[in-house]
Amino acid sequence: MRQTSVKIGIIVLIVLMLFFLVYEKDDRIQTPSRADYADNTRNIAFASADLSENKICNSLSIPLQHEITQYKKIERQLTDSEHEAVVVCRKRDLKEEHKQSWETFFANKVEYIRWNNHTYLNGDSTVVEVGGNVGAFSDKILSLFNPRRYIILEPMTKYSGMLVGKYKGVQNVMVLNFGLASEDRTDWVKLDGIETSRFQNNNIPKNQLSPLRQVNATDFFLSMGVGIYEVDLLTMNCEGCEYDILDAILDSNLINYFRHVQISYHHLNGLGDTLDRWCQYQQLLSRTHRLIYQYPFFWELWTRKDLKQ
Ligand SMILES: *[C@@H]1O[C@H](CO)[C@@H](O)[C@H](O)[C@H]1NC(C)=O
Ligand SMILES: *[C@@H]1O[C@H](CO)[C@@H](O)[C@H](O)[C@H]1NC(C)=O
Repeated sequence: MRQTSVKIGIIVLIVLMLFFLVYEKDDRIQTPSRADYADNTRNIAFASADLSENKICNSLSIPLQHEITQYKKIERQLTDSEHEAVVVCRKRDLKEEHKQSWETFFANKVEYIRWNNHTYLNGDSTVVEVGGNVGAFSDKILSLFNPRRYIILEPMTKYSGMLVGKYKGVQNVMVLNFGLASEDRTDWVKLDGIETSRFQNNNIPKNQLSPLRQVNATDFFLSMGVGIYEVDLLTMNCEGCEYDILDAILDSNLINYFRHVQISYHHLNGLGDTLDRWCQYQQLLSRTHRLIYQYPFFWELWTRKDLKQ
């Protein structure tokens, strides 16, 4: 199990690094500055050796990626006013509001907002979609904006196989046959169309279950270079995995590297107190991002505060 995870990790790392190297324009590659080295205590000796910039680049002792990223864990501690807002939020009627959101969202083409709204995307953009299913969403984004890289995570082999077939020869699309979670793990689930989830009741005979492989979300983002590069859009519709992913990026400074974050929230038994979790995310996300659209407890889009659009 551990070995498989390590193998998956290494494969992801290599494939994603290659993908970035091939598709990244030179002008967007950020070389760490001397200040970055000096900041990093593990490299103090390196920085103080007074090497020329050139020599650093040619040296074999180029720091490993996790040493040059400025990844930091952040303790989640709400301020008094954030805590106050959560207390108020927790009084909301999740069931009723979710039902209303659902009805509004799927009436009169309102749902088109989840692809139409991303007009900031262009031929330079990177999109990460978690929960690709059979590609209804990716088709829309690709035909509207044709981003430079479109990375789709789809853990169910049946669907990811369909995606691979659909995007055969499409150079800017990469399909990865795993999902994200707080840790590397494999669950056995009932293949259930767009509702396949490890948080559903999967209580059927084992021989009818399919594997759902997941990779530690923090490891995944770091290995694809988030922290050096930014992701233009992270969009998640993954039957409950959104909570683990939000926890991973909000409990660290990774959140700063996602320019736009679009989320579909699910409320399944295995997910705990989703009212409380949703209320907390509203506070945590609004530290760095501003809300663009929201159908409460269902779909929403956040844009980083420094961006006009
Ligand atoms: C995105 O949605 C928001 C909220 O409905 C709206 O104000 C904005 O104009 C939309 N942007 C685009 C480009 O459609
Ligand atoms: C996930 O990966 C991060 C970064 O390597 C690590 O700090 C964290 O402990 C991992 N989480 C679990 C639950 O293994």
